[in-house]
Amino acid sequence: MNSEEVKQKFYNRYYRPDEKVRVYFSPGRVNLIGEHTDYNGGFVFPCALSYGTYLVCRKTAEPVIRMATTNFDFSLEIPIDQLENKIGEEWVNYPLGVFNELVSKGFNPGGIEMLYSGNIPNKSGLSSSASIELVTAVALNDLYNLDIDRIELVKTGPAAENNFVGVNCGIMDQFAVGMGKKDHAIFLNCDTLEYDLVPIQLEGYKLVIANTNKTRGLADSKYNERVSECQKAVQDLSQGTPIGYLAELSSREFFEYQHLIEDPIVLKRARHVITENERVIQAVMALKAGALEEFGELMNASHDSLRDDYEVTGIELDTLVEEGRKIKGVIGSRMTGAGFGGCTVSLVKDEAIEIYIEKVGPAYQEKTGYKADFYVAEIGNGASRLQNK
Ligand code: GLA
Repeated sequence: MNSEEVKQKFYNRYYRPDEKVRVYFSPGRVNLIGEHTDYNGGFVFPCALSYGTYLVCRKTAEPVIRMATTNFDFSLEIPIDQLENKIGEEWVNYPLGVFNELVSKGFNPGGIEMLYSGNIPNKSGLSSSASIELVTAVALNDLYNLDIDRIELVKTGPAAENNFVGVNCGIMDQFAVGMGKKDHAIFLNCDTLEYDLVPIQLEGYKLVIANTNKTRGLADSKYNERVSECQKAVQDLSQGTPIGYLAELSSREFFEYQHLIEDPIVLKRARHVITENERVIQAVMALKAGALEEFGELMNASHDSLRDDYEVTGIELDTLVEEGRKIKGVIGSRMTGAGFGGCTVSLVKDEAIEIYIEKVGPAYQEKTGYKADFYVAEIGNGASRLQNK
């Protein structure tokens, strides 16, 4: 659906076609490397996609929020002063969480009518939730002249997830969808929020996303479990060297103090985070130097560590990756996002894309029973207002 069609649907739902609306768009994201490092104060390397979420909205005189989407059959009307609690497991909790954050920080967005429409495959690990959060934050800021700078808007996303939705995620997804730039990836230090926009020049190669189409059951609770395991590792390691985050340690320092971690599972989790963090730095250097083969090898090593040490892959993601790596011209393949289902991202030679899809699709279906979807990634811009009227 394009923005004009969403606008039409807005008027069909909320009427008053003579009153102006505004249209916003926020992308999804794909992370190239640096998984489960963000909440450990580490580096990540995501980029915004051209897929994303449209939001058509306008102010209302009454202090109520009206929300609907063209994607699901669930809409809501709620007075702004009754925003305390999460509503089941519904998608509306992402925008409500953002609203709640702004109100709790003393901002005063008034009533609003909103219609969302997303073209990111749902629960695919391409951050449809962060996309909804940022499109909401950007729209409220603009519509109500709240004068909040972009980084602060980005921060309302993870705050909404942590405080309202109940997922202890880091800042990577919202940073990517809020700060993305066409044909660039963001090398982000999640501790200091310093970042560098790195041009993605893949002479002769493309990034191909493959969706497992496996719904990520229990993903949120498993995610929070990983966050706690990392916190446990910080506590144990701090007996030898006081740290606030795992990513403060180099792998050399980690190997010196790893004996302080008693639980072998916690040890594996920490090893993933620390080695992954170093892989991000190496991968960015490789990309800047045009060393694509090396970049691909680091993607492969990242996946293997997420499979063996962090244990967030599963048969679906592993099958897509294994089958992909069998194809000549696929020089790197890994899961992207939280894991437990969702998508892989692969670096594939232009001439090999067709054969990659032709071979991996059926092999994957045969092994798992799911049908995979494939997309050549287009790297787009961060969230913005599209038009006025
Ligand atoms: C999810 C979270 C992010 C990040 C990734 C894993 O996408 O929302 O904050 O932790 O998982 O890298």
